[in-house]
Amino acid sequence: MKFRKLVLALALVSFFGVSIAQSAPGKETDPLGPKVPEDEMEEAKEWKNPMKPTPANIAKGKALFQGKATCFTCHGNEGKGDGVAGAALDPAPRNFHNPGLKKKTDGEFMYVIKNGIEGTGMISYAPGIITEEEAALILLYERSLH
Ligand code: HEC
Repeated sequence: MKFRKLVLALALVSFFGVSIAQSAPGKETDPLGPKVPEDEMEEAKEWKNPMKPTPANIAKGKALFQGKATCFTCHGNEGKGDGVAGAALDPAPRNFHNPGLKKKTDGEFMYVIKNGIEGTGMISYAPGIITEEEAALILLYERSLH
């Protein structure tokens, strides 16, 4: 009996220990901090989104964000940075509802989708997981949030 209680106690401690560790939220980095290396910034900013922000295109971008492109797993279904897979990440995924992000260019966001952000959970998505055209549509959705 005593042994059983000990096993139960250990199981509880390790279960809650692990869930506490996993729920410790990482901090979001400064939304205005540059995510493109200095020497590539000028070129990155030149990119213009070839897709027009029509309601139909924004809806396509949203469907990709919330589906096949898997962005929602970290950035959250509504882009608030609260996705399940992002909960343990430090830095935390970007919340796209921050109005400060209006100051960033489409080109900077596109650079990140193509190259990722070194040392973070943000990996490279295009081309590969999604096409550049799909990334451009997703950007229209992201832009509609802030
Ligand atoms: C595995 C988790 C994860 C997934 C999936 C993910 N991201 Fe991210 N993303 C992050 C994290 C973490 C950051 C913040 C990194 C930082 O602050 O340095 C980030 C940052 C970004 C930024 C930078 C915003 C800025 O401030 O410049 C953009 C843009 C972005 N993600 C777009 C996307 C898109 C589009 C997708 C889907 C194709 C996606 N992410 C999928 C984790 C993820």
